[in-house]
Amino acid sequence: MTTVGATVKARAWVATSLGDPTAVMERRDVDVAYPGPNQIRVAVDAFCLNLNDIDIIRGRYLTLPLEPPFVPGMESVGTVEAAGPGAEHLLGQRVVGIPSLAHGGYASYALVDAATAMELPSWLSDTDAAAIHYPFHLGWLALNERARLQPGETLLVHAAAGGTGSGALQMGKAMGARVIATAGSDEKLDYCRSLGADLAVNYRTEDFVAAAMDFTYGHGVDVAFDAVGGDVTVETFKCMGFNGRHLIAGWSQDIQLEDAHYLTPRAMAYGNFSLCGVCLVYVSDPLGVRRTLGFNWPGRSEGQQAHRRILEMVRTGQLRPAVTRELTFDAIPAALEDMEQRRTMGRLVVRVGS
Ligand SMILES: NC(=O)c1ccc[n+]([C@@H]2O[C@H](COP(=O)([O-])OP(=O)(O)OC[C@H]3O[C@@H](n4cnc5c(N)ncnc54)[C@H](OP(=O)(O)O)[C@@H]3O)[C@@H](O)[C@H]2O)c1
Repeated sequence: MTTVGATVKARAWVATSLGDPTAVMERRDVDVAYPGPNQIRVAVDAFCLNLNDIDIIRGRYLTLPLEPPFVPGMESVGTVEAAGPGAEHLLGQRVVGIPSLAHGGYASYALVDAATAMELPSWLSDTDAAAIHYPFHLGWLALNERARLQPGETLLVHAAAGGTGSGALQMGKAMGARVIATAGSDEKLDYCRSLGADLAVNYRTEDFVAAAMDFTYGHGVDVAFDAVGGDVTVETFKCMGFNGRHLIAGWSQDIQLEDAHYLTPRAMAYGNFSLCGVCLVYVSDPLGVRRTLGFNWPGRSEGQQAHRRILEMVRTGQLRPAVTRELTFDAIPAALEDMEQRRTMGRLVVRVGS
């Protein structure tokens, strides 16, 4: 029985200073506060690792700079054991959600923004549930809302063996597109094919622009899902088709590119294609965010609609949670190192009880 207002002790990984996760992370017990307005506290069963966790631990994620010590981790699956004002309807529900300010997830209890908490059906295991949020919700927002991908169009997905990439690849196939996947090793290319890629190209050793132009008979691709950034983005512009939509979805290559000046308008203007930004954060008050931060973030109701569609696609086998490794809690720093060194595929799920 949870006492209203009481903190709980959680086992956690803590970033004790900014730097290499294998050097600065420590196992500690931490206090997790009672949830505030529109917040829930989740007794966590599982969560996924994200590349941006590394950026946060290294102190280069300028959107949310954090002072150590802090608990990293931006996804949680578990049961809501306490709810703040406005979030009482979620009490007792099993949910996947985003911890407040995108950290606090590497722990047995986490404070989660209620606007992001999506209820989970009993047929979905904790492991699979931990793998769906960023890949499939971002894939849906990017390809459906932003790029308006149509059946029969050609979609290029970069880093398609990764977490968000594998989600975009599968979402593209589920929406009826022909998908060109890029990735950085033979094993990753095989993985992309197993997820349905029509063409898989090693963009570290092959000319992916030539491959895409060849695959589209010289027309170029209709949509590109690009969470790599930098020179990969600039190269991708060379294979965008007429009326194409290039999705700026992230900067795996270097998060600091988000504020860099490396794009020029000429390619878009002369190429007759569009740049589409995409940012997945469901919020309770989109207009308030618009007023205070100047950003356009989708509301909870849009998230719930997307969630229903995604669960249906998972249930019917059109989307497969891309879990490639289940990790013990102790294994997190080593797994982050693998991720940073580009040795991982799909999603790495941590089981908290293990
Ligand atoms: N827009 C949004 O709302 C949103 C939400 C969530 C995540 N994201 C973005 O999605 C991207 C992927 O995140 P993730 O957690 O799913 O990671 P991930 O894709 O599992 O891992 C990143 C992959 O990027 C590729 N990569 C290219 N250059 C790299 C470099 N210099 N260092 C490391 N990896 C590099 C690697 O694949 P190859 O070896 O195949 O090149 C690597 O496996 C990130 O940029 C993140 O910011 C965006």
